[in-house]
Amino acid sequence: MKRIGTLFCAVLLSAVLTACGSGEPASAPSVADSDKAAVQEKLNKQDSKTDDTKADDKQSDESTVTAQAETESQTYNDGKNILVAYFSRADENYNVGTIDKGNTQIVAEYIADEVGADSFHIETVTPYPADYDDCCDVAKQELADKARPEIQGSVENMEQYDIVFLGYPIWWGDMPMAVYTFMDSYDFSDKVVIPFNTHEGSGESGTYSAIGSYLPNAQVLDGMAIQGKTAQEFSSDTQQAVREWLDGLGF
Ligand SMILES: Cc1cc2nc3c(=O)[nH]c(=O)nc-3n(C[C@H](O)[C@H](O)[C@H](O)COP(=O)(O)O)c2cc1C
Repeated sequence: MKRIGTLFCAVLLSAVLTACGSGEPASAPSVADSDKAAVQEKLNKQDSKTDDTKADDKQSDESTVTAQAETESQTYNDGKNILVAYFSRADENYNVGTIDKGNTQIVAEYIADEVGADSFHIETVTPYPADYDDCCDVAKQELADKARPEIQGSVENMEQYDIVFLGYPIWWGDMPMAVYTFMDSYDFSDKVVIPFNTHEGSGESGTYSAIGSYLPNAQVLDGMAIQGKTAQEFSSDTQQAVREWLDGLGF
C-alpha cells in the first residue's frame, strides 16, 4: 500500500485539496436560493407538460400541502425528465477494500430512487484495472494526457431531460476523464446540471466550478460531496444526507 501513500501525498500537496474538506462523513451543503429557483423552474416546466395528470391527481385530494407535494413528486416520476448519470468503479479501492458496487453508484441509486430518475452508468469501453495501484497509474496518465476515453453506449433521447444529476469520484483532484467524454457527448444547453461526488479527503476539489466552466450553456448548481467510505459502509447516514440535500433543492 506504499503507493496509496504516494497518491494521497500528491493529492494533499495539490492546491485543489486545500480548498476542500478532509474526509468528513456525508455532508449536505446549504442550498442557494438561486439553486432552488433553477430546479423549481425546471420542475414547473415539467408540471405544465402533464397538466392532465396533475388535474386528475388533484381531484382525489387537494386539501393538504402534503398531498400537493406527493402529486408533484408523482409528476416527476411519470415525466422521466430527470437523469442521474454517474461514473463509478467497483473492485479494489482506497479505504474500502475490494467492493462489488462503487461508492458513487450507491449515492447515484439513492438519488435516482428519491427523485424517480432514469440512470446512466458512465463506463469506459476499456475497463480500468481492478487493482487500485494500477488504476491510479492509468488515471494519472489519462489526466496528464487530457484523455477522453470512449464510453460504452449512450443516453437515449438526452434532449428529453431537463435536469441531469452528474456523479463521479474524485480522481487525482479532478473528475475521471470519462466524465469529460460524457460532457463532450451531449448538448447541455438550458439543462440544470447538479453534480455530486465521492472522495476520500479532497471534498469536491473544485470540480463543481470546473463543470460550470466546461458547460457554459447549462445551469450548474452547487453539488453534494460524500466520503466514499461513508457511502459504502454507512447507508443510513448517506441516505439521510441525500434526502436532506434533495429537500434543500426542492425535490
Ligand atoms: C485513480 C484514483 C484516484 C483517486 N484520487 C483521489 C483524490 O485525488 N482525492 C480523494 O479524495 N480521493 C481520491 N480517490 C478515492 C476516490 O475518490 C474514492 O474512493 C471514491 O469514493 C471512489 O468512488 P467509486 O467507488 O464510485 O469509483 C482516488 C481513487 C482512485 C481509484
